Amino acid sequence: MRTFPLVNREIIMFKTIAIGCDHAAFEYKEKLIKFLEGKGYKVLDMGTDSTESCDYPVFADKVCNKVTGKEADCGILICGTGIGMSMAANKHKGIRAAVVGDLTSCEFTRLHNDANVLCMGARIIAYAQCEVFATKFLETEFMGGKHKKRIDMFEPA
Ligand code: RB5
Repeated sequence: MRTFPLVNREIIMFKTIAIGCDHAAFEYKEKLIKFLEGKGYKVLDMGTDSTESCDYPVFADKVCNKVTGKEADCGILICGTGIGMSMAANKHKGIRAAVVGDLTSCEFTRLHNDANVLCMGARIIAYAQCEVFATKFLETEFMGGKHKKRIDMFEPA
């Protein structure tokens, strides 16, 4: 049986979170902002601001620019599936975005991939899962070591 190191739940590595969504996930984003602020995080709301149809890459770019510009420690992006947001986010150098639909992936994309943007699908998961997944993502520390070498290989030489 493989064992994995326990994560220190006292550590909150991410303090400022940039969050963005498209029309499909506006209500999830609004609720998640309140939830995260209630937990003490500073949240930068990068839009969208309504359920009016919009282009998700615009909001992926706004969030990723906050993360790469170091104004936010990490990002959260929500669209219908989370897939388009993750594709757009991963075009940014220095962004490691992961779209997740289960709790284990949330944990391991932090432990092994040092993901800095969490993507979720409002048409895929229930809102309550959003809170659970975001919490796991925000409270799990990167393991480093051999995983650092591997994520460094993502970047062009
Ligand atoms: C919008 O209809 C939808 O395409 C978007 O929310 C997202 O799921 C794209 O990946």
